Amino acid sequence: MAQRFLVSRRDFMRSSAIGTAGLAMGARPSFVAPSDRITIGMIGSGARAHGLVESLKAFPEVEVVAACDAYTGRLERIRDRTDGRADTMADYREIISRDDIDAVVISSPDHWHYQHSVDSLNAGKHAYIEKPMTYSIEEGAGIIEAQRRNNLAVQVGSPGPNGILVQKARQMIQEGKLGQVTMIRASTNRNTASGAWIYPIPPDASPETVDWDLFLGSAPKRPYNPERFFRWRCYKDYSGGLSTDLYVHTCTTINYVMNAQIPERVMAMGDLYRWIHSRDVPDTINASLKYSDGFMVNLSGTFNNQGGNSGGMRILGTEGSLVFGGGLRFIPERVNESNGWITASWPKALADAYIADPAIRHEEMPSSRPQSTIAGEEVYHAEGEDSMHVHIREWLDAIRDGSATKEDAEVGHHAAACAHMINASIEMEKMVTWDGQSLTAN
Ligand SMILES: NC(=O)c1ccc[n+]([C@@H]2O[C@H](COP(=O)([O-])OP(=O)(O)OC[C@H]3O[C@@H](n4cnc5c(N)ncnc54)[C@H](O)[C@@H]3O)[C@@H](O)[C@H]2O)c1
Repeated sequence: MAQRFLVSRRDFMRSSAIGTAGLAMGARPSFVAPSDRITIGMIGSGARAHGLVESLKAFPEVEVVAACDAYTGRLERIRDRTDGRADTMADYREIISRDDIDAVVISSPDHWHYQHSVDSLNAGKHAYIEKPMTYSIEEGAGIIEAQRRNNLAVQVGSPGPNGILVQKARQMIQEGKLGQVTMIRASTNRNTASGAWIYPIPPDASPETVDWDLFLGSAPKRPYNPERFFRWRCYKDYSGGLSTDLYVHTCTTINYVMNAQIPERVMAMGDLYRWIHSRDVPDTINASLKYSDGFMVNLSGTFNNQGGNSGGMRILGTEGSLVFGGGLRFIPERVNESNGWITASWPKALADAYIADPAIRHEEMPSSRPQSTIAGEEVYHAEGEDSMHVHIREWLDAIRDGSATKEDAEVGHHAAACAHMINASIEMEKMVTWDGQSLTAN
């Protein structure tokens, strides 16, 4: 029988405060020596964690020495994946109280991220925190504070900014190649059950193998429900659905390339049209985000069609566009003024004089210009290291030498805040603003 324990959020705060005080007395140095191996504990050992364990194998100095989870099957597989080297358990506090563990990878369901992150940082562990960093916008400040106070390396799990194409886009935008960027259009679309998070449930799932109360944590109490346990993204109690699962990646990239943080206003609509028996989060969303940095974002997505546009992003500037999807394309703006239809209503002599003006002809009649070559499209493809590998390496470097990560707790908070504002606007059917302390509906 799985080890069972029921801990409310308040109990966790109390117990972890005690645990943290104890750990602080024997505080470990914040950064490990360059030659040292880095030992890692996995907090939440589900599908994503297994992928991350494989990614970590590319770094010989790293060893996954422990893993916790609320389903025994996942722990069994983690033991296989680490050739039996990882100790396994249900309770994450057994991981963060170990002196021989330097860092944790937090890939639990979203409603656990705050508790797992704050407790791990307060126990002196560097943290790779899966996206969305938070389950609610208010949780951001606590994780930022815990990172700063403990001076530890945090990387949040959207690797976009460590992709070479995203860096190219940022460079072009910051150098002014696109002119004035005022609009970004992005979408993510799917049309499969697996894409809509209806994952297969392992046949051995039962109250014997699943620690249901551990999964629930501070979420509303309910009887054991394997759909909720294995498809938690479909339910508001544990997830923010499309916004926090998918748009958070897009917002991370947008914030990075535009040097932006949190939108000043968000207005969104969402509805559940099709997957009505499997969830309580929308399957279709249209959102507008207005940043104080002089641009807006249109984010949309559906789980009901992926034919026309399964996803992508267009960054639109007065001098050119950047299009993500199958590489990165720069498309220069080739525009001509066009007033012929207006001057056609003028007295003929005035209209003829207008178009006879060489400056007007140059602007409005490309055929009248001397032949010239003008900048054409540029297409970039990513080569070399995978962004995920670079993202993890950046975190490991930060653990070793205190260097910065691109996605620390503050950056993770900004990206998650975009998603939370979208959801708040949908829920309240109002435009929302965030003043750093609270969300207001207008
Ligand atoms: N960056 C990416 O591209 C990416 C991709 C997939 C998932 N993710 C993120 O990773 C996280 C995990 O997603 P997943 O797809 O692996 O989900 P999952 O359901 O496969 O894994 C979550 C695991 O956490 C375990 N768990 C639940 N409560 C726990 C608790 N209190 N203590 C310890 N373990 C607990 C569950 O038993 C489960 O095995 C999510 O935040 C998700 O958004 C990120």
